[in-house]
Amino acid sequence: MKRIITYGTFDLMHYGHINLLRRAKELGDYLIVALSEDEFNKTQKNKKTYFSYDERKQHLEAVRYVDLVIPEKSWKQKIHDIHLYQVDIFCMGDDWEGKFDFLKEHCEVVYFKRTAEVSTSQIKTDLGGYGRSLTPPEIKDEE
Ligand code: CTP
Repeated sequence: MKRIITYGTFDLMHYGHINLLRRAKELGDYLIVALSEDEFNKTQKNKKTYFSYDERKQHLEAVRYVDLVIPEKSWKQKIHDIHLYQVDIFCMGDDWEGKFDFLKEHCEVVYFKRTAEVSTSQIKTDLGGYGRSLTPPEIKDEE
């Protein structure tokens, strides 16, 4: 059985994520997604997600290509994960090209071309930037 692992935040799941997950699963038999925890996003990736870790995990678990979701808590856990889960292939989108080549002594490393013209940040911008944690604008009654 060939096992694959990928890492990411996967907030506001979109078709770019689905393409990545589909291509990752096509590399083998069992796909593990290490999903960035809220605290890790905030303190290490400088990202504030719209959906919480548990909500994002639910979305990923509903995707047919995903077999297991584990938490990503630190940048340093990858080698440990690769050995623990007996991973054959590590993959990421090519926005990370070259950044994880140091893992090649532990498993195969594959970078996929990102799906053009979609990202979570772009969706947030297009929708106007109102995360649910922001206070909505005050609406005053017309006099
Ligand atoms: N990804 C992709 N194509 C896209 C968007 C994301 O292949 N259009 C891949 C990324 O390369 C990564 C995984 O999906 O391997 C998770 O990416 P993530 O950072 O969660 O998604 P983004 O949409 O890039 O989010 P953001 O805009 O917050 O960076």
